[in-house]
Amino acid sequence: MIFNQLFDKKSSTYTYIISSGKGREALIIDPVIEHTDEYIKVLKNLELKLVKVIDTHIHADHISGLNELNKRTYCSRVMGEKSKSEIVDIKLKDNENISIENIQLKAIYTPGHTDCSYCYIMNDRVFTGDTLLINGTGRTDFQSGNSHDAYNSIFNRLLKLPEETLVYPAHDYNGKKYSTIKNEKNNNPRLQINSKEEYAEIMDNLNLSDPKMMDIAVPANLKGLTLNQL
Ligand SMILES: [Fe+2]
Repeated sequence: MIFNQLFDKKSSTYTYIISSGKGREALIIDPVIEHTDEYIKVLKNLELKLVKVIDTHIHADHISGLNELNKRTYCSRVMGEKSKSEIVDIKLKDNENISIENIQLKAIYTPGHTDCSYCYIMNDRVFTGDTLLINGTGRTDFQSGNSHDAYNSIFNRLLKLPEETLVYPAHDYNGKKYSTIKNEKNNNPRLQINSKEEYAEIMDNLNLSDPKMMDIAVPANLKGLTLNQL
């Protein structure tokens, strides 16, 4: 399997290029627009045909490469059905599968960070977007986020996966590339709590400032625009 994890330094975003092998179909999860050329180069070097591109949610900290990759490769743009994006070709329901050649992912609806956040399970791993981060969790104070929903998504969906499941998030700010469900369950400081109320108390009092890119990134990502088109 080809599993390429790329990093955008500016927004600390992880992007994933996945394929079952050289010369086959590929998919990309959470691309960053500035790196479109780099993704195209990786695809070309491995003789991959990009057929699908997924955003785990509408990002607030960077402009997605979803639409640009569609323009360049004619791949299908995929998000969960709760997404308000105007440019999505395939909208997935909770528990719905999406496939490329020899690879299948299952979308699970995990609201909380935003109301359009989905995670994607692929064999031994899960792409958690901003729902579950390594030693952290996605903030719940904007984009229709909700700390109670986030608790449900994390504790009743993600932490119910087999403990050895690998966790691949959309961001990491400390250089960590992946984790496991077991490790997050036991060591993630945000998850060492006893009730939904306790989790909401933490999340509702983080007092974070808005991401610098938010006023640009959210409208751009809803309409599939570039910085120059805004
Ligand atoms: Fe996010």
